[in-house]
Amino acid sequence: MTETRYFTTEDKDLYKAAELIKEGGLVAFPTETVYGLGGNALDPAAARKIYEAKGRPSDNPLIVHISDIGQIEALAEEFPPMARALAEALWPGPMTLVLKKKAVVPDETTGGLATVAIRMPASKAALKLITKSGCPIAAPSANLSGHPSPTRWQHVKEDLNGRIDAVIMGEPCMGGIESTVIDMTEDLPQILRPGLITPERITEILGVPCSYDPAILGRPEEGLVPKAPGMKYKHYAPKAKMLLFEGSREQVVKTITQRAAEYRSRGWSVAELLYEDSTRAAECLFADLRRCDEEGTDIILAMALSEEESVGFSVMNRMLKSAGYHIEHV
Ligand code: TXA
Ligand code: MG
Repeated sequence: MTETRYFTTEDKDLYKAAELIKEGGLVAFPTETVYGLGGNALDPAAARKIYEAKGRPSDNPLIVHISDIGQIEALAEEFPPMARALAEALWPGPMTLVLKKKAVVPDETTGGLATVAIRMPASKAALKLITKSGCPIAAPSANLSGHPSPTRWQHVKEDLNGRIDAVIMGEPCMGGIESTVIDMTEDLPQILRPGLITPERITEILGVPCSYDPAILGRPEEGLVPKAPGMKYKHYAPKAKMLLFEGSREQVVKTITQRAAEYRSRGWSVAELLYEDSTRAAECLFADLRRCDEEGTDIILAMALSEEESVGFSVMNRMLKSAGYHIEHV
C-alpha cells in the first residue's frame, strides 16, 4: 500500500505533484477526455509501475503527454507535415498521434512497438503538471484495467487509492471518452481508436481522406486484429447485464419502458440510459456505468446512438463493448 495524496489544481500543489513525477512516482491528473495516470515517459521503471497499478497487460502501449509541440522532436524519428498540421490545428485537444519513435522512448512505454503515441491534453492543470515535471508524461486512463475510464477524480480514488502516489482533484472531464488515436506513420491518416475528433474534421484540415482501422468497423467475431493493441481488450464492462436497443427514438423509448417494467416486476434493479445526443452520451456514459455498479443495478437498458454520425460511432464503440455486443433492433 502506498499512501495516496490528494492535491488541488493550485500551483503550489502542482509543484508537489511534479516533484513526485520527477522522483519516478505516479500521479493521476485531469484531462479534457478522461483522467490519466501519469509517470515519467522516459523512465522504464515508472512505466512498469503504471502497468502494475492498473493491473494492465504490458503489451498495451501508453500515450505520451506533452505540453509543447517542440517536445516531439526528442520523441519521434519523424514529424511528417500532415502530423504537424493536425497538431497545430487541434492541440491542445482530444487527439493522439502515432509516430515512429526515437530510441530514447523505452519499450516499457510503447509496449515494445516501434511507434509512440503522443498527445497534448487541453486541461490547464495537465499542461502545468507536464511543464513543471520537465519530462513527457506517459499516461493511460486512470482506471483499474477493465473498468470504465474515470471522468471524475472520485472515480480515480475508487480504483487506485493506495496504489499510486497522488491524485490531482481537477474538474470533471467534459469530453468523457478517450482521445482519437490516429496513425500518422503511413501516407494517409488512419483512425485506430475513434473519439471526439472525427475523420471529417481531419479531412477538412488536411484535404485528404481519413479511414478507420478496418478492425474497429467490424464486430470482434470477424477476427480482425486492431492496430491499437488496447482496442482488442474487453473494456468498460459494468457488473450489470447491459442491452442496447436501436430503432426510431419513439419505438426505442417505448420498448425500454416496457422491458424496464417487466424486469422490475421480477424484482430486478433496472437502469435506463437514454441520451439526448451523442455529445451528452460521451460526457456521461462512463460516470453512469460506474453509478450503476455502485447502486447494484442488475440490468442496464440503453438506447443505441446512430453510428452514421461520427461522434455517435465513437460512443457506440464503447457502448457495444460494455454491452458485450448485445443489440436488439426494435
Ligand atoms: O484521452 C486519452 O487518450 C486518455 C487520456 C488520459 O489522455 N488516455 C488513454 O490512454 O485513453 P489508454 O492507455 O487508456 O489508451 C491508449 C490507447 C490504447 O488503445 C493503446 O493500445 C493505443 O492508445 N496506443 C498507444 N500507443 C500506441 C501505438 N504506438 N500504436 C498504436 N496504438 C497505440
Ligand atoms: Mg484506458
